[in-house]
Amino acid sequence: MSDILELVRKRTSSRMPFDLERPVAEEQLAGILEAARWSPTAHNMQNFEIVVVDDRKVLEAIGSIERPISETFVRENYQQLSFSEEELLERKTGILATMFPPSWRNPDFRLDEIDDEEIASMQTPLPTSAVLLVVVYDPRRRAPASEGDFLGILSLGCVMENMWLAAESMGIGLQIVSSLSSGVEVKRILGIPDDLIIAFSCRLGYPASKPAEYLRVRRDVKDFTHHNRFGD
Ligand SMILES: Cc1cc2nc3c(=O)[nH]c(=O)nc-3n(C[C@H](O)[C@H](O)[C@H](O)COP(=O)(O)O)c2cc1C
Repeated sequence: MSDILELVRKRTSSRMPFDLERPVAEEQLAGILEAARWSPTAHNMQNFEIVVVDDRKVLEAIGSIERPISETFVRENYQQLSFSEEELLERKTGILATMFPPSWRNPDFRLDEIDDEEIASMQTPLPTSAVLLVVVYDPRRRAPASEGDFLGILSLGCVMENMWLAAESMGIGLQIVSSLSSGVEVKRILGIPDDLIIAFSCRLGYPASKPAEYLRVRRDVKDFTHHNRFGD
């Protein structure tokens, strides 16, 4: 129990470039995919496919896709930002503002009011990675009587966490890259059929340099636990 809890606490987002000289070994990748295989899914529908991308040219093609930032994203993101470590420790949710370009720290952010340099800084290239896993949702493998396939979508979260913990246990860094889920470019490059949906993509690898420490916060257990009745 203590080992699994330690692993759960240690798992973190690895947003740095990965070392291309140190690829993820085949057995390790197999272990991560095995963890995905044994994920719980609603009705055991196993509603996912995984595209393993380790071809440098394909990785570069995906890395060079423009990932435009929407005004809505920046506005909603602003609501979650903390502007100091003290504020983040107090709030216990969300992210530190310094992780984003300065223009995102403006509540009245408007895309048409920022200059080209700022736009360029918002569209940082995808950091290098040895492997990218693109997890594809197959809505046809739908859990019965689940409105909007809520249960199927939850299942994809189990796949994500299983893979993340497996990678963490091997000392391999992982970052979820949600921006690769929208648009048609990744689907086109990877030949993913139109009726399937990219659920999430994750970069995998060993950090190219010592990862920068960053403040990680969580609500306390008592903040989200209710005893016998909601609100108590
Ligand atoms: C569904 C989902 C989508 C996420 N998308 C991104 C993303 O696009 N980019 C990123 O750097 N992190 C992404 N994350 C990671 C979260 O930001 C991160 O888990 C959270 O801030 C807590 O930090 P930690 O992972 O270091 O504990 C995502 C996580 C989840 C579960």
